[in-house]
Amino acid sequence: MNLSTCIENAATRLETAEVFFGHGTDNAWDEAAWLILHALGIPINEDADLNMLINSTQQTAINTLLQQRIESRKPVAYLTGTAWFAGLPFHTAEGVIVPRSHIGGFLLERGRPWISPQKVKHVLDLCTGSGCIAVAAAVAFSEASIDATDIDPLALALAEKNINEYKMESRIQLIESDIFQNLSAVYDLILSNPPYVPAGEISHFPPEYQHEPAAAFDGGEDGLNLVRKILADAAPFLAPEGHIVIEVGESWTTLERAYPRAVFNWIETGVEDSGLFILSREELEEF
Ligand SMILES: C[S@@+](CC[C@H](N)C(=O)[O-])C[C@H]1O[C@@H](n2cnc3c(N)ncnc32)[C@H](O)[C@@H]1O
Repeated sequence: MNLSTCIENAATRLETAEVFFGHGTDNAWDEAAWLILHALGIPINEDADLNMLINSTQQTAINTLLQQRIESRKPVAYLTGTAWFAGLPFHTAEGVIVPRSHIGGFLLERGRPWISPQKVKHVLDLCTGSGCIAVAAAVAFSEASIDATDIDPLALALAEKNINEYKMESRIQLIESDIFQNLSAVYDLILSNPPYVPAGEISHFPPEYQHEPAAAFDGGEDGLNLVRKILADAAPFLAPEGHIVIEVGESWTTLERAYPRAVFNWIETGVEDSGLFILSREELEEF
C-alpha cells in the first residue's frame, strides 16, 4: 500500500468511529495524515511522497496509533506529544490544554493593522498554558520581552520546556500568578486566552476535550468570571498607548450583553464565533 491509500483508509476509519476533530485539524484526512506521518517519523511540515510504499512494520505502527486514537479518544496532540501553533511546533503534556487560540493569527500578522509592531517592547501573556502565545509573541515582536503567567504549576512546567526549546529563556519570564496578582510591570500589549466556557457546558464537551483540564475552560456560570476580572483590573498594567487582546470565543454575545455601553473591536479571524477583541487602554478606561 502507498502513503496516499494508507491515509485514505485511516481517514475512513476515523470518520466511521466518529472521532472529534478539534485540536488543529477539522477533517479526517488531515487528522489521518498527522497521525501517519508521526508514526513514520516524517515531520508534518516537510513534503512527503504520497506514492511511497508502506512496509509491514510501518503499517503496524500506524495501526497501533490509529487504534489508540479511536479507543482512547485522546487528541492526536497528546498521542504524538506535539501540537502546532502560529506555524511553530510545541511540546504537549496531558494535564495541560493543547495549544489553540485565535491570538495565533493576530501574532502571525504581528498585530497589524491594530497596533504598530515596532512599538511593542513589553508583552504580557495572561493564562499562558503551554507557553504557545508567549513564544509566538516573542517571534512576532523580536525586540520585546515577555511575561507569561498561569495559576497552574503543571502548565508553567510545560511552558518552561517550550521556552527552553526555543532558547527564549532570556526574553520570556514565567510567573505563577492568579491573573494580575503577582504582577507589577506595565505592558505595551496584554494578550489573553483565558477560560471562557460556561461551566454547565463542559460536561457536554466531546470526549477529546474531556482529556484536557477543565480549569483551562471553566469560566464560571456565564463563562465570563475571569474575563470580567481581567477587564476590571487591566488598565493600570497597560502603558498609555497600550492595548489588550482577549479571546472569548462563543461567549462574545454574553460579553456584549454584559457591557452594553462598551464598544468592542472584534478582530476578523475568518472563523465564526472566534470572539477575539482588542481595546486600547483609553477604550478600556472609558467603560
Ligand atoms: C484556555 S487556556 C489557554 C492556554 C494557552 N494560552 C493557549 O492559548 O493555548 C487557559 C489557561 O488559563 C489558566 N488559568 C485558569 N485560571 C487562571 C487564573 N485565575 N489565573 C491565571 N491563569 C489561569 C489555565 O491553567 C490555562 O492554562
